[in-house]
Amino acid sequence: MTDLKFTAERKQQFDELLTHYETKASALLPVLRLAQEQWGYLKPEVMDYVANLLELCPRHVREVASFYVMLKKQDMGKHCLQVCTNITCCMMGSDDLLKVIEEELGLSESMQLTADGQFSLMPVQCLGSCDTAPVVQVNEDYYEKLNPEVFRSLLKKLKDGQKTEPGRQT
Ligand code: FES
Repeated sequence: MTDLKFTAERKQQFDELLTHYETKASALLPVLRLAQEQWGYLKPEVMDYVANLLELCPRHVREVASFYVMLKKQDMGKHCLQVCTNITCCMMGSDDLLKVIEEELGLSESMQLTADGQFSLMPVQCLGSCDTAPVVQVNEDYYEKLNPEVFRSLLKKLKDGQKTEPGRQT
């Protein structure tokens, strides 16, 4: 058993979510997203907590979570940089964006996290926004039509905790 608990606000969201599904089990994915919002990533205790809430086998919950890239199973820091490296983004310069990440943050390997826990790198396949390539998803937000210069300044803003505007950047 775990001592973890949803905050009162998330518990309310959880209860509301359940009203949209015929069975508790059907709400598994949105509840895992809700848990990820609260704890940042789905460590084993969090998945056990979700399993308990939904009256599911913990092993089933882990298996489902392992299938989805957007469900994070390890600490990906404050800003998870998901760089699309599929064909269109590649042709439009995603390699240059990866170079900027290496120069600015020292990250070059998949799933790497900076020492201060601020940034992680996760190269991903098509983000479904090829017409605005190259695209980087930062947590839940898409930053599109990037170039190295603009991306460098975006990283600086994120580092400094400044407000950024997702969407097309050029
Ligand atoms: S190839 Fe990058 S969004 Fe489709």
